Amino acid sequence: MTRDNGSPVGDNENSQTAGAAGPVLLQDSHLIEKLQRFDRERIPERVVHARGTGAFGEFVASSDISDLTVAQVFKPGTKTPVFVRFSTVMGYRGSPEQARDPRGFATKFYTTQGNWDIVGINKGIFFIRDAIKFPDFVHANKPSAVTGVQDANLAFDFFANTPEATNMLTHMYANEGMPDSYRHMDGFGVHAFKFINEKGEVHYVKFHWRSDQGLQNIRPKDIPASIGNDWNLMSNDLYGAIKKGDFPRWDLYIQVLKPSDLAKFDYDPLDDTKEWIGIPEQKVGTMTLNRIPDNYFESTEESAFAPSRMIPGIEPSEDRMLQGRMFAYADTQMYRLGPNYNSLPINRPLSEVTNNNQDGLMNSSGRRGEVNFEPSTVAEISQSPRFKYSNTPLSGVTQQAAIHKKQPFKQAGIFYRSLPESEKTDLVTALAGDLRHVTNEQNKYTMVSYFNKADADLGHRLEEALGVDASRIDGLTSKLSDN
Ligand code: HEM
Repeated sequence: MTRDNGSPVGDNENSQTAGAAGPVLLQDSHLIEKLQRFDRERIPERVVHARGTGAFGEFVASSDISDLTVAQVFKPGTKTPVFVRFSTVMGYRGSPEQARDPRGFATKFYTTQGNWDIVGINKGIFFIRDAIKFPDFVHANKPSAVTGVQDANLAFDFFANTPEATNMLTHMYANEGMPDSYRHMDGFGVHAFKFINEKGEVHYVKFHWRSDQGLQNIRPKDIPASIGNDWNLMSNDLYGAIKKGDFPRWDLYIQVLKPSDLAKFDYDPLDDTKEWIGIPEQKVGTMTLNRIPDNYFESTEESAFAPSRMIPGIEPSEDRMLQGRMFAYADTQMYRLGPNYNSLPINRPLSEVTNNNQDGLMNSSGRRGEVNFEPSTVAEISQSPRFKYSNTPLSGVTQQAAIHKKQPFKQAGIFYRSLPESEKTDLVTALAGDLRHVTNEQNKYTMVSYFNKADADLGHRLEEALGVDASRIDGLTSKLSDN
């Protein structure tokens, strides 16, 4: 055993004291260092998605999509190492893994052209469509600022004033809101992204990880038993399978739209509260997770995923949520892990990093030479116009206004009607179970009117389950617009 300076330790169990009965000595530098390091073991937990589990694996590209993107990760046969972190969203770092909560599904591809992250969840949509509402959404759903306990009253106070969340809420209260393990769920990039091909042409794409293990969820009646059995069910299941050599796999599918297609829908395809219903999917590769990290902190805690981490051939769309996310992740990571977090082994790209970003807390980049600027005649860093961002046509004035085609309810209804009878019943049981705790009558009635607008059968079943006044719900519903 050594101290942090590498010198050997003589005794790690007895502090140095002044005689047999005297006080402990300040000169015991091994003791002082050990306590100092222990006192600093924790870093800030992620502001959301604090509870997570990570695993390593590889992604193998299967089909030629060079007509869509120059991204080398998609060249057929290319094997790319990956690190995936699954998570819950609202709970603290030590919280139970079973909760009615979206699951994070974040994948870091260590490609030959730099790191690319798909920072997605297990649903194809989200609650809100503008990043400016994200801190409010999180405050309302995290534990109360007074009691420290999550409170349906606060969550539904927000949702009653956020009709665009109706689609996601309908999915969340369906059984798919409670996957029985990380292996038995799909993953989605949620937003539209852009693919750029050799000619500079743009296509809009959505990503979908399809679980080879199939989908399995926990029904409301089985939730108490399942949570009672194991708080860490999701991590134990994933690591248990990998330890046995039963490596979980997901196939990556894409949906593709031309820019000229965007105007054709009765909803806005760049609104992340909407799925691209009816647009065919094509398979582009397969991911296998096959290795459990040796060190939880250095992998799962220190990993830093960001939607802004892209590679040539992949760019952000104009989706307003994605645009906000393009800023927020690196920003929080500079606070959570420090400005040089990208030099940590779990975040370091395989390709060489060559730029003039330098110094700062804990820097160890090893960059050399005194020309730390560009342009320079002496030491030019090469750049290629091939890697410039694509061009996006624009019109109009700067503005602060909602999108035109809001359509808050239609897709929620389509989803509800697609469920088998038993799942419709489970959805009503789970949703009424939480709405019952809403003491603010106005919010409760507003929420039921949203679900009633999405689908009258869903509305009626909720009215019955909650014992609310149906004519008052009808009155509220008649004032709602789905435009
Ligand atoms: C503008 C809206 C959003 C903002 C500002 C935001 C912000 C954040 C922040 C600050 C973190 C913590 C990152 C870290 O400490 O490393 C995080 C984590 C995460 N977010 Fe978001 N988020 C937003 C929307 C979304 C959406 C729509 C999705 C799903 C598509 C999503 C998926 C995730 C995932 C999976 C993680 C965990 C990544 C990991 O495992 O480390 N977020 N988000």
